Amino acid sequence: MTSKSLNIVLGVGGGIAAYKVASLVRLLKESGNDVRVVPTPSALKFVGTATWEALSGNPVVSQVWDNVAEVPHVSIGKNADLVIVAPATADLMSRAAHGAANDLLTNVLLTATCPIVYAPAMHTEMWQNPATQKNVSTLRAHGNVVLEPAVGRLTGSDSGPGRMLEPEEIVAAALALVSAQIRDLVGRQIVITAGGTRENLDPVRFIGNRSSGKQGIALALAARDRGADVTLICANVTAQIPSGIKTVFVESGAELKNAVDAIASQSDVVVMTAAVADFAPAHVSDTKIKKADDGSAPTIELVRTPDILASLVAERKPGQFIVGFAAETGDSQASVLEHGRAKLARKGCDALVVNDVTGNHAFGSDDNEVTILLKDDAREVHIPRASKSDIAHALWDLVAPALS
Ligand code: CTP
Repeated sequence: MTSKSLNIVLGVGGGIAAYKVASLVRLLKESGNDVRVVPTPSALKFVGTATWEALSGNPVVSQVWDNVAEVPHVSIGKNADLVIVAPATADLMSRAAHGAANDLLTNVLLTATCPIVYAPAMHTEMWQNPATQKNVSTLRAHGNVVLEPAVGRLTGSDSGPGRMLEPEEIVAAALALVSAQIRDLVGRQIVITAGGTRENLDPVRFIGNRSSGKQGIALALAARDRGADVTLICANVTAQIPSGIKTVFVESGAELKNAVDAIASQSDVVVMTAAVADFAPAHVSDTKIKKADDGSAPTIELVRTPDILASLVAERKPGQFIVGFAAETGDSQASVLEHGRAKLARKGCDALVVNDVTGNHAFGSDDNEVTILLKDDAREVHIPRASKSDIAHALWDLVAPALS
């Protein structure tokens, strides 16, 4: 359990398991935390305001129209170190997954940038319904933790998966999440580029690449969880972006460069995971390029694109840490790592994450194997096959201590 006192928001959904959540408030208070209970209006039909106020020692409101002067729909979420939602009903998770803001609790869920843990409770049919499972996946993709419900007795005589975990289990899971967190990037401004650029040939065709953006998203999520203020610049990323991360969407290398230039000078760290096209068509046709009647194929003239990483290094502000990524293959000239070392020296960045793409395993996958090379350190930090989240944390473990 964490020793630091936390500001915990306990969101209570409208389910019969709300009565058990009263003891969850006690457990959280007894371990020295400040607890603010935010029930939904339906939750108050099961357990009333007086109970929550007496147990938490804090005022209880459930609508955005209460205590408006305190702007509770923003302040409660922003000040929280941890949000626990119990019982998380099917309706509440549906609203949260879709970004609804129709009561105070859903507003809090939209404004919180801390970890959010859901403890579902509902009948088995509701839990197993594809709509609910889709909402659970969406919440998880947004970076939230949705605990698996227990299997057991439900309201009435039926039993099965859908029973809320016991308060002790919810507290243990939620506090373990917070205490496991390293907060070594608090106050840091971090810019991460992700995905792959597209260079237009004509209104329907482009030169692109296979980068999915997943590693960039994992880095952004890990940095957010370690306390950083993160901006993710996404080039053609289709994956879900977790909450609490500012996002800028771009398509081409030129747009990516403009977006990076607009923010780099205010950043402590810039990580270039985006695969930037090295060449772009010299001319972009306004109309679709047609096949010639004589059967000939067009010749497309290409020009070099600006090297964004190189210009970041050239214009770096004092103390700024710049990371590049390199997808490499070994050849008759040099091994993957020899190419990586040469690229680190050529680019002048502080670290280069080298990825062996022989056989094409990394693109779109949820895991990878990399070696991190550092400019001022002869170590080569090899990360054997691991999730992109683990790789992200391994990189932050190296970057955070290097920040002045
Ligand atoms: N990069 C960049 N601007 C470019 C090309 C690449 O900022 N026009 C960045 C990438 O985001 C990555 C790093 O440079 O962080 C290395 O990319 P890579 O394509 O491996 O480097 P290149 O210099 O293009 O080298 P190569 O000739 O091996 O393709």
